[in-house]
Amino acid sequence: MQTRFQGKAAIVTGAASGIGRATALRLGEEGAHIFACDVDTSGLEDFATEAKGAGIRVDTLALDVSDGEACRDAVAQAVDTCGKLDVLCNIAGISQLDLLENYSDELWNRMIGINLSSVFFLSQAAMPHLIETGGNIVNMASTAGLQGQAYNAIYCAAKHGVVALTKSNAQEFARRGVRVNAVCPGGVLTPLLRATKMPEGADAELFGRMMPLLSLGRPEEIATAVAYLASDDARYITGHTLTLDGGQTI
Ligand SMILES: NC(=O)c1ccc[n+]([C@@H]2O[C@H](COP(=O)([O-])OP(=O)(O)OC[C@H]3O[C@@H](n4cnc5c(N)ncnc54)[C@H](O)[C@@H]3O)[C@@H](O)[C@H]2O)c1
Repeated sequence: MQTRFQGKAAIVTGAASGIGRATALRLGEEGAHIFACDVDTSGLEDFATEAKGAGIRVDTLALDVSDGEACRDAVAQAVDTCGKLDVLCNIAGISQLDLLENYSDELWNRMIGINLSSVFFLSQAAMPHLIETGGNIVNMASTAGLQGQAYNAIYCAAKHGVVALTKSNAQEFARRGVRVNAVCPGGVLTPLLRATKMPEGADAELFGRMMPLLSLGRPEEIATAVAYLASDDARYITGHTLTLDGGQTI
């Protein structure tokens, strides 16, 4: 195992499950002090037990990433605890497919809050600390951030927004030494994907367009890409969206 994150501190949201958990473990195994955040406190505890068992230095925080004030407090707490901040991985997210006419205002606000506003809140709060360390941000977008997908309108809107924040922040902060990149996975085997169902009344052919040509991805494969972008190996890469989708968007 490489040691690219020795002496570095990383915030990882969504660390209780799936891609966030795999990323927190990967960065931790490579030496990072992990400040793991999630709304799922028992999942976080479970993650912390596994991470500590693997010799990873880890602190956890129960955080609802759709709450701006809580996000600002979380960054302050992370810097307090770790002494600095080198990497922010915005990974927490939710998804729910439906026909456009069935989506509620409440779900619009919730999905935009968790998937998109969180990236704005945490990036804004983390930026002064990342400028200090010459650090970077990796955002979890999706193929839904690169293309339209039937029955996925809110999620697509949020993930296109994540790509936009990635590119805008990358431009604004490049000369101050902070890189900002995004990863765009297709279908990855996690609890989020397992809970995804074709909505009633959906056209199976349109739904099928979301499927990768290769088999589904694994969380560890996405974590490898996040670790690459967050490391000095990617020193010359910013504003990039790295697609891992088994050919879905060819
Ligand atoms: N699984 C896929 O096929 C896939 C594809 C593309 C992108 N993604 C993205 O990857 C990210 C991780 O998803 P996953 O597949 O690992 O799902 P997951 O459900 O396994 O993990 C998501 C995590 O986010 C946490 N979370 C949810 N709401 C939160 C909130 N308000 N505050 C803090 N944490 C919250 C959950 O508790 C969970 O631990 C998401 O942004 C998702 O959109 C997933």
